[in-house]
Amino acid sequence: MPTNDERLSRLGQLRAEALLGGGPVRIERQHSWGKLTARERLDLLLDPGTFVELDAFVTHRSPDPSLADQRFLGDGVVTGHGAIDGRLVFVFSQDFTVFGGSLSEAYAEKICKVMDLAMKVGAPLIGLNDSGGARIQEGVASLGGYADIFLRNVLASGVVPQISVIMGPCAGGAVYSPAMTDFTVMVERTSYMFVTGPNVVKAVTHEEVDSEALGGALVHTTKSGVAHLAAHDEAEALDAARRILAHLPQNNLGAPTIVPSNDPSDRMDPELDRVVPDDPHRPYDMHDVISRIVDDGGFLEIQPGWASNIIIGFARFAGRSVGIVAQQPAVLAGALDIDASTKAARFVRTCDCFNVPLVTLVDVPGFLPGVGQEHGGIIKHGAKLLFAYCEATVPKVTVITRKAYGGAYDVMSSKHVRGDMNFAWPSAEIAVMGAEGAVNIIFKDEIAGADDPTAERRRLVAAYEEEFNNPYIAAARGYVDDVIRPSETRPRIISALEMLADKRDTNPRKKHGNIPL
Ligand code: HXC
Repeated sequence: MPTNDERLSRLGQLRAEALLGGGPVRIERQHSWGKLTARERLDLLLDPGTFVELDAFVTHRSPDPSLADQRFLGDGVVTGHGAIDGRLVFVFSQDFTVFGGSLSEAYAEKICKVMDLAMKVGAPLIGLNDSGGARIQEGVASLGGYADIFLRNVLASGVVPQISVIMGPCAGGAVYSPAMTDFTVMVERTSYMFVTGPNVVKAVTHEEVDSEALGGALVHTTKSGVAHLAAHDEAEALDAARRILAHLPQNNLGAPTIVPSNDPSDRMDPELDRVVPDDPHRPYDMHDVISRIVDDGGFLEIQPGWASNIIIGFARFAGRSVGIVAQQPAVLAGALDIDASTKAARFVRTCDCFNVPLVTLVDVPGFLPGVGQEHGGIIKHGAKLLFAYCEATVPKVTVITRKAYGGAYDVMSSKHVRGDMNFAWPSAEIAVMGAEGAVNIIFKDEIAGADDPTAERRRLVAAYEEEFNNPYIAAARGYVDDVIRPSETRPRIISALEMLADKRDTNPRKKHGNIPL
């Protein structure tokens, strides 16, 4: 019989072995690619000394003879819980040094265990992905393991926040786990995501493309919109996950933490009175507005490089987290197109399921016209945003800074879709369409019959602008609650958010709505 000392010594040896993953040579290789190991990443992600590992002694159960003498403790994924800013989180970190981080049956069970615990105790889940996909030797058992994870991703969706950080390969069906989480962060140059890789693409479509050009961080944060943020390096990616989490509650029954702020709640900003140009056709940068109204100018923009005609992201007002959705007049005049609608709709729903109030800044000339947009389905994609705003029950504060035309007026958190506090700046133009378009339609005959059609059109446009392009018709109907000076926007938003802090609103009981997909 071994002595107690021998038993303890064996435990120590096994723990040390588990820490080494696939061994020093493969760790060295990982480092040579500029990548950290699974454990080094957890050290950076979590508050120091808080990581508690589970299942460090799990090994694969593959009957494949070639794997009989290859059993690595932990089997390629490090799982457990820890803290971020003192808050409990569950984590898994795929270990590329063990079978390329590929997923076995036992490995999937480890991930499922932390997912189940996260759901039971109501805490966020963060997954660090770096994997060659299904472990080829395990065959269908691996596919089943993926499906077990996918199911949990879906059941956890809207219950606990889920964040994916892609830090290496993520290919094949494996991409669908991150795709179903709330946020995906990628590391530039060392991570990629695709359903079929360059070789399959070449065989099927004869297109020559490398991994980076097919599914690198740049592609997914500027072209596809699959990822939410790209980071220069791994440390930055992990920090981004922490920063996102700071704006989210532990689960759907809680609210985000209120962080004390030194930025005065009554701070006015006279510069805002001059942000909107006198000429309604001239653009301005909505980022200027955002940075002037939020606490200390702090804005965590999400998907900044994709569909940048709409801006989404997190900020704080008097320490309270909000999701900001804002048109960007400097890009496509802020028009809503397919990508912008999809981008904002998803964000509105993310905020709504995690009780993050919405602040919407509106300057929208309408939906983007064009054959490409119509044939691409702008009707159903635009409807996503409308649907998302209609069903959202979190506090909704809206500020119309300039244009709010047509259907886009209704969509952008208008009073009619349960906007709680709707403000307009004096520069607001709330109408069915712009003056030029309206005059061309309703005064077509008068213009054609005039001695000087150009002068007549100009006169009619000016008259229309004078009469209709202002906030007062909407204000007279109570569609906007107040017309405010731009400089007082911050205090007015803060007072609205405080007034709405205990808002309760519900939707009719149903299995789930049928959002147009
Ligand atoms: C088992 C794997 C593996 C896998 C890599 N390895 N992928 N072992 N199953 N899927 C092992 C390698 O044998 C090697 O072992 C080590 O991991 C590192 O791999 P390398 O090829 O040396 O590394 P690298 O050159 O960086 O290439 C990484 C890679 C490549 C691009 C990921 O390994 C690769 O293409 N792997 C196969 C990817 C794949 O087709 N997966 C299945 C996708 S389908 P040693 O012992 O030398 O360290 C899929 C379906 C999911 O995932 C379905 C969900 C529904």
